[in-house]
Amino acid sequence: MAKHETPLLDQLETGPWPSFVSDLKQQAEVRAKNEKGVEFQIPQDCVDDLLGVLELSFKHGRTHWKHGGIVGVFGYGGGVIGRYCDQPQAFPGVEHFHTMRVNQPAGKFYKTDYLKSLTELWDFRGSGVTNMHGATGDIILLGTTTPQLEEVFWTLTHDMNQDLGGSGSNLRTPADCLGQSRCEYACYDTNALVYFLTNEYQDELHRPAFPYKFKFKLDGCPNCCVASIARSDMSFIGTWKDDIRIDQDAVNKYVENDPAYPANAGAHKGKDWGPFDIEKEVTGLCPTKCMKFENKKLFIDNANCTRCMHCINVMPRALKVGKETGCSILVGAKAPILDGAQMGSLLVPFVEVNPDNDYEAITEVIENVWDWWMEEGKNRERLGELIMRQGFQKLLEVTGIDPMPQHVAYPRTNPYIFWKEDEVTGGWERDVEEYRKHHQR
Ligand code: HEM
Ligand code: HEM
Ligand code: SF4
Ligand code: SF4
Repeated sequence: MAKHETPLLDQLETGPWPSFVSDLKQQAEVRAKNEKGVEFQIPQDCVDDLLGVLELSFKHGRTHWKHGGIVGVFGYGGGVIGRYCDQPQAFPGVEHFHTMRVNQPAGKFYKTDYLKSLTELWDFRGSGVTNMHGATGDIILLGTTTPQLEEVFWTLTHDMNQDLGGSGSNLRTPADCLGQSRCEYACYDTNALVYFLTNEYQDELHRPAFPYKFKFKLDGCPNCCVASIARSDMSFIGTWKDDIRIDQDAVNKYVENDPAYPANAGAHKGKDWGPFDIEKEVTGLCPTKCMKFENKKLFIDNANCTRCMHCINVMPRALKVGKETGCSILVGAKAPILDGAQMGSLLVPFVEVNPDNDYEAITEVIENVWDWWMEEGKNRERLGELIMRQGFQKLLEVTGIDPMPQHVAYPRTNPYIFWKEDEVTGGWERDVEEYRKHHQR
């Protein structure tokens, strides 16, 4: 018998999509029965109360969590999001309902052993409710009390070799696409680099030292499966600089509509789009029109290819990314607050991804950007906003990168151009008397 009536939430148990309400009810019941004899460290009925307070929010159309909450573990300045219910008498099970961020593995590959030990820990010391995963990437353990935080942290680190993720004005938990682990488009090992960067910058992740939050995301190619260009202050997107590799026989299999070579690997099978037409679906859609198919041969003028991935995405068995691979670095993406949404802007068109020298070409860019932003960034100013305020030119100066046409989508249209004094013959010091010698008042 459920603790609270939840008529509104009950409606969300209908329909084909997996119902979070049914799952929560199931979890509430598992805790109520406690067949495993767990010595619950937080209220046994916390999930009932979670459903109860959510039902109340459905009824009122407003949240019932108090503002903010500052909790954590010693040594770290972040990792836990404190939260308290504003109806603690009605829902004592969620009076404390803190969230712990746990740093997920690269590409989110797991073994059941690991997940079992995590769920055992969380059933014992938390609500048993999770978010797999938070939008930044973390495993989210949803709901526990303050005294349990150090206990959970102890078990995570001592028994599971597992650290917390980031929160606050610091480096947040980096995340990546699954990369070379199972994608033939991956231009570098995103899993290895995300793991390296996460370890390299543990201090920046656990102890807030920045003007505001800062995120890394790593995509193996411009398809951007982890959406780095939109959701990270510094985005690493794989690419190549030599030629697209063409298997002409395979191209012709696509052209002949060989069933083993469906366009886009069969992604549009749900609807009849007619037989594959290479002109209409590939060469004609190339954004730079640098391809042509003649006499059963596909030509690509690679010098004019922007590496948009379209042709490769359509004919994955015939076209492959080049062999000289690396990544581009884009900076400044952020959500609207304060001064408008931004996507990443191209800073480094191509950089090598080299594990043998600890990715020094990449860490150098990161650290130069941080040195600048940490000093110049205003309180709670994202990198993207500092770039707007002080200028992209300044970013290029601090990173030691020469300006190049690839840095802009188009040149400026206004003529409010700043010159440095030493670039102008004679400098800025002028004597008006000298001027008057030639020009009467
Ligand atoms: C025979 C008389 C004048 C001629 C032939 C003349 C010509 C010009 C020219 C060719 C420009 C440059 C336009 C450009 O940069 O695209 C200019 C700009 C300007 N002129 Fe004159 N001008 C004359 C008189 C004056 C006078 C009397 C004033 C002020 C009282 C004046 C104020 C300005 C200003 C403020 C600008 C704009 C500067 C800028 O764009 O930053 N001009 N003029
Ligand atoms: C008391 C007289 C004047 C006052 C108070 C005045 C004030 C201003 C102001 C406030 C601006 C805007 C500056 C900016 O956008 O940053 C401006 C621009 C301009 N004024 Fe005047 N102005 C006066 C007389 C004149 C005269 C007599 C001329 C031309 C013969 C002139 C030509 C211009 C031009 C060409 C601009 C545009 C400059 C630019 O492109 O930035 N002004 N003026
Ligand atoms: S971003 Fe590119 S490399 Fe990464 S999983 Fe997606 S398609 Fe593959
Ligand atoms: S990757 Fe894009 S730009 Fe390059 S040839 Fe293919 S379709 Fe054209």
